[in-house]
Amino acid sequence: MLEKVSVAQARLEESVGKEVVLQGWVRTCRDMKTMCFIALNDGSCFGNIQLVADDSLTNYDSEVKKLTTGSSIYAEGKIVASPGSEQPTEVQVTKLEVYDIAPAEYPLQKKRHTLEFLRSIAHLRPRANTFNAVARVRNRLCYSIHQFFQSRGFYYIHTPLITASDCEGAGEMFKVTTLDLANVPRTPDGNVDYTQDFFGKPAFLTVSGQLAVENYACAMGKVYTFGPTFRAENSNTSRHLSEFWMIEPEMAFYTLSENMQLAEEFLKTLLRDVLNDCAEDMQFFNDRIDPSHTLLESLTKIVECDFQRCSYTQAIEILTNAKQKFQYPVQWGVDLQSEHERYLTEVHFKGPVIVHDYPKDIKAFYMRLNDDEKTVRAMDVLTPGVGEIIGGSEREYRYDVLENRLKELGLNPEDYWWYLDLRRFGTVPHSGFGLGLERILMFVTSMQNIRDVIPFPRFPGNAEF
Ligand code: 4AD
Ligand code: MG
Repeated sequence: MLEKVSVAQARLEESVGKEVVLQGWVRTCRDMKTMCFIALNDGSCFGNIQLVADDSLTNYDSEVKKLTTGSSIYAEGKIVASPGSEQPTEVQVTKLEVYDIAPAEYPLQKKRHTLEFLRSIAHLRPRANTFNAVARVRNRLCYSIHQFFQSRGFYYIHTPLITASDCEGAGEMFKVTTLDLANVPRTPDGNVDYTQDFFGKPAFLTVSGQLAVENYACAMGKVYTFGPTFRAENSNTSRHLSEFWMIEPEMAFYTLSENMQLAEEFLKTLLRDVLNDCAEDMQFFNDRIDPSHTLLESLTKIVECDFQRCSYTQAIEILTNAKQKFQYPVQWGVDLQSEHERYLTEVHFKGPVIVHDYPKDIKAFYMRLNDDEKTVRAMDVLTPGVGEIIGGSEREYRYDVLENRLKELGLNPEDYWWYLDLRRFGTVPHSGFGLGLERILMFVTSMQNIRDVIPFPRFPGNAEF
């Protein structure tokens, strides 16, 4: 009986002797006159399997010899130990059928392509090594995220993508409407009449599931949400997307320091899982993507060491005393710019650092106000190369203080009535954070542009594919 196997299975030494079917895409085909060496890939793993096809095949001259890069094929054959040193196994082909011969204009010819070019063919780039590898690591991270929380008694909660409240209060939301934009209904005083809109009021794509998931934390203890989030900020940077995925755990009865502890364990677990289970892909990122080829070494070190912690106030001191000159001047109260984050993680602490207790004026309304009334119980996890990958806080659970904060920031407490209600009926201290999936993926792979770690990136001016 022929067994249908993946390239990953076929490459295992223990598969030697099996009669198999393989299907996939030709990476290269070397024509040695009476035989061809075909490197076949099906995305199941980083490496290819070598198929050896000779002129005993009936379609050898008519089809096999004409195979081109990108062609799709079906092959039957026997897995044998490979005489070559590059791979443990290869396949002696007994039958080969062609699904499609890719013409010469197939854009992924065997040569190095720039990431910019590959971005312009996002529909085909999953067949390129780098994007194949990124997708597998992304998959492993997502699996690991669920394993981490499930094994610790967290419940997975689905929070809505369409919402009427701005979680971050930053007004960076995409509007969701069915109003005819060419003929918008108006109220007598000239404003848009949202009562005629689909939801009867303005609605948006969510920037975060936090407010909704807090309601479940205050009922079920430890919960998390994990889904796409949307930001209409006009940041054309290598670290921002308009659509990205966020993991947001929320824990009742957690203090800020317990929150930081969880974030650290979480990140270390993700790194450990990827290092263990994506060895071949990670070796590729180390050797071919990370310019200093130290990725594996530095991730391994991070798993083994404690993260540094420092208050925002201490961070400002460190930056003020730095010999380095910054483009953005540093003083207490300013938001940390990426050059500051880089200095802290890359030069000063030489590793991830958790900065906590930020000035309230640069953070969102829901963070717990400290007794100094100037800072809030916020924390950001900063990493070398990427900067902020986690943002979180202890939540303000005192009704009056929260209501005041909303007003101070020019937000309407009525819009947050249900969120405020949590503080009226059995309010409890609680904390949570958000990890940007693409940010951690950049960190883990050393990929430099966030647009290359999500299958189809959305950013200002681009919603192609
Ligand atoms: O710091 P942020 O804005 O925090 C929140 O949304 C909180 N509601 C999270 C919480 O406490 N539950 O975003 C959290 C993380 C950032 O640290 C970053 O990793 C990522 O989300 N992020 C982005 N990733 C890609 N593109 C963007 N435009 C991002 N904005 C934030
Ligand atoms: Mg943040």
